[in-house]
Amino acid sequence: MNWSEVKLNNLAEIQSELIKVIPENKLGIFSLFYLPNNLLLFSSIKVLRDALVHLQLQNYVRGFAFLILPPSTKLPIHQDIGKFKWSLNIPLQVIPGCFLKLYTNFNGIVETVKLPDGNIFHKHESENCNLIEVHDTITPYFFNTSIPHTVENCSEVDQIQLLIRFDSIDPAAEHIINEHNQKR
Ligand SMILES: [Fe+2]
Repeated sequence: MNWSEVKLNNLAEIQSELIKVIPENKLGIFSLFYLPNNLLLFSSIKVLRDALVHLQLQNYVRGFAFLILPPSTKLPIHQDIGKFKWSLNIPLQVIPGCFLKLYTNFNGIVETVKLPDGNIFHKHESENCNLIEVHDTITPYFFNTSIPHTVENCSEVDQIQLLIRFDSIDPAAEHIINEHNQKR
């Protein structure tokens, strides 16, 4: 399974606390960014920590990022490479019309891109890909970031998500996420 919905009891509180953390100068601008010392910062947000403890994943978080997509913007189709495989994405408002799309690449043609922060990803052209799954991002969800994917905002407003990245090389974390996915 590449995607599964995650029910968080305290979602509304998480949304209201997390939206406050975003620097004002980042709002309204297309970006995917990590705040400095993000592990420490986000561990201090009790509602978020409680949700991760409830999922038994508090010890496996390796990074917290924000994704901000203004209307009609999307990420390139890509695969995240390296130590982050699973992501828990939490929409910070519940507004329909933003979609996670998963693909297969049928001819294997990819471009390797290295970002200024050292992270590497594989970029895919849409003509090399077949769409296999589409999910509206109105609920929190786990998904496998090693599958070619994009997030596309087809709504009329900015879409903001918190991306919680888990360590794929830790079998315990992988096991917990797989168990969760099988129950759904
Ligand atoms: Fe990604």
